[in-house]
Amino acid sequence: MFSRAHKALVALFFFHAPFGQCRVNTIIRDVAIIGGGASGTFSAVRLRDEGKSVVLIEKENILGGHVNTYQDPVTGTTVDYGVEIFHDMQIVKDYFNRLNVSWAIEVLGPRSSAPDYLDGNTGQTVKYKAPNPVAGLIAYAEQLSKYLNIGLGFFLPDPVPDDFLLPFGQFLAKYPDIGNATYTIFSYGQGLGNFLDQPTLYVFKNFGLDIIQGISSGFLVTTSSDNYEIYDHATKLLGSDVLLSSRVVSTQYRGDHGVELDIETPTGTQVVIAKKLLIAIPQKLNNMNRFALDTREANVFREFGNSGYYTSLVRNTGLPANFTSYSVSPDTPYNIPRLPGVYDVVPTAIHGVFDVKYGSPHSVPDGFVRKQILSYIKKLQANGFAENVSGDPEFVAFKSHTPFELTVSRDKIANGFYKDFYSLQGHRNTWYTGAALHTQDSSLIWNFTESYVLPELLK
Ligand SMILES: Cc1cc2nc3c(=O)[nH]c(=O)nc-3n(C[C@H](O)[C@H](O)[C@H](O)COP(=O)(O)OP(=O)(O)OC[C@H]3O[C@@H](n4cnc5c(N)ncnc54)[C@H](O)[C@@H]3O)c2cc1C
Ligand SMILES: *[C@@H]1O[C@H](CO)[C@@H](O)[C@H](O)[C@H]1NC(C)=O
Ligand SMILES: *[C@@H]1O[C@H](CO)[C@@H](O)[C@H](O)[C@H]1NC(C)=O
Ligand SMILES: *[C@@H]1O[C@H](CO)[C@@H](O)[C@H](O)[C@H]1NC(C)=O
Ligand SMILES: *[C@@H]1O[C@H](CO)[C@@H](O)[C@H](O)[C@H]1NC(C)=O
Ligand SMILES: *[C@@H]1O[C@H](CO)[C@@H](O)[C@H](O)[C@H]1NC(C)=O
Repeated sequence: MFSRAHKALVALFFFHAPFGQCRVNTIIRDVAIIGGGASGTFSAVRLRDEGKSVVLIEKENILGGHVNTYQDPVTGTTVDYGVEIFHDMQIVKDYFNRLNVSWAIEVLGPRSSAPDYLDGNTGQTVKYKAPNPVAGLIAYAEQLSKYLNIGLGFFLPDPVPDDFLLPFGQFLAKYPDIGNATYTIFSYGQGLGNFLDQPTLYVFKNFGLDIIQGISSGFLVTTSSDNYEIYDHATKLLGSDVLLSSRVVSTQYRGDHGVELDIETPTGTQVVIAKKLLIAIPQKLNNMNRFALDTREANVFREFGNSGYYTSLVRNTGLPANFTSYSVSPDTPYNIPRLPGVYDVVPTAIHGVFDVKYGSPHSVPDGFVRKQILSYIKKLQANGFAENVSGDPEFVAFKSHTPFELTVSRDKIANGFYKDFYSLQGHRNTWYTGAALHTQDSSLIWNFTESYVLPELLK
């Protein structure tokens, strides 16, 4: 059966008709990219540099995805309350150099020499002494180094090792030497939801050897302390190839001859016709429903569950300028805090503004999280950590990063889920990249995209 779009594509590819003249607002490109976060923006810049024409479609009014930068209107000081650090990797340096973003390598010190360890729900002091994590990290790295391929993607041994499937809490019970590193692994890997219940595979992916290396030899940071600079420069470079505040409303055709998509933009509906499609958004079924999925695709995407992760900046708290609290629980294994709850409260470069992060094992409404964060600050006041201030604490910024970690059940992992997911690459002229294909780490995703996704799109 030939749809309208299919006929149109046949015309485009076989008769080279001036298709853009047939319908107004038609954008014709080599590659259409959906999602202008870390992986989509990188792909757009790289494909253009390699001579492909692209269009990048992003639902928000700026590029950057999980990068959130707040600028203090009075002093101009910037604070990154989303993505903070990158890896000391050649591909990151090349990308930043391409975008004129100046960078440096920094060994991160502890955020505070004497943090308060507080219950993340009640805001009360918990008797907790942070153990020295070094021996535990070495024992953990020893386990990780058995599986180097998972540092590059979901390249799992067949059969999938039992250790990957164990809930992380059980893995720790099996390898008690790692125990003293648990809280460190947890706090770097924020956003994983119920950390001790997650299949160990997801913890391995999230806190891999590259992170351990970065902790010891330094991470790459932007010298401006303004990670949005990357996306600001990319937006300028890409110019009219970026459609902001835009989304796919329907897919007219996706198959052997390319794709045709209807895009809702602030200036009306546009039609995008492209030879190939790259999907760089969280591939949850409900976020994929405008792409006319076939059964094979839907059966993959429907398996994803997700955690919730929320970031905010709060002022008028009454907390001392250097106040830092990490959440722990008085009565859980390794004192890992119960979620939903606050992960930590840390001071920022803007006097009196605190970075408050919040996590949940599943999506929760933004309004609920906002209330919980403000009520937590009030508990800190009531518990004597803050001075009395007039007026309530208030947000200068709040951002939901939900759905965050995309995970599937251990059965699905064992039964080849990631093979099925990866085998969709190229199916119906559609490719995929982003965190769900590798891990929540911009640098590693860029390297994955460069190695395994872009070569196919450059053909
Ligand atoms: C608070 C926080 C801190 C982090 N810190 C770091 C860090 O320090 N270093 C690091 O390397 N990584 C960090 N990460 C992880 C990193 O941000 C992710 O790994 C990376 O952003 C994933 O890239 P992505 O392209 O898959 O997704 P994203 O960057 O989330 O991009 C997806 C984009 O798609 C858009 N989108 C979604 N749905 C649609 C749709 N239907 N149509 C159009 N557009 C859509 C979104 O708006 C978004 O812009 C952090 C993440 C969070 C939340
Ligand atoms: C980077 O800077 C150079 C020199 O100033 C300029 O020619 C180029 O357009 C800039 N590129 C980007 C992506 O900003
Ligand atoms: C904060 O500053 C006060 C006074 O300068 C100091 O006594 C305290 O130890 C500091 N706290 C932290 C967590 O650094
Ligand atoms: C963990 O740290 C504690 C002290 O902080 C120490 O007594 C214990 O031996 C350590 N455990 C392991 C397995 O190294
Ligand atoms: C804050 O105010 C309450 C009553 O409004 C008072 O009981 C308390 O002592 C005050 N705390 C500080 C630190 O001043
Ligand atoms: C980047 O990816 C390639 C291909 O998987 C891999 O060989 C290389 O080691 C990766 N680089 C880093 C620094 O991870």
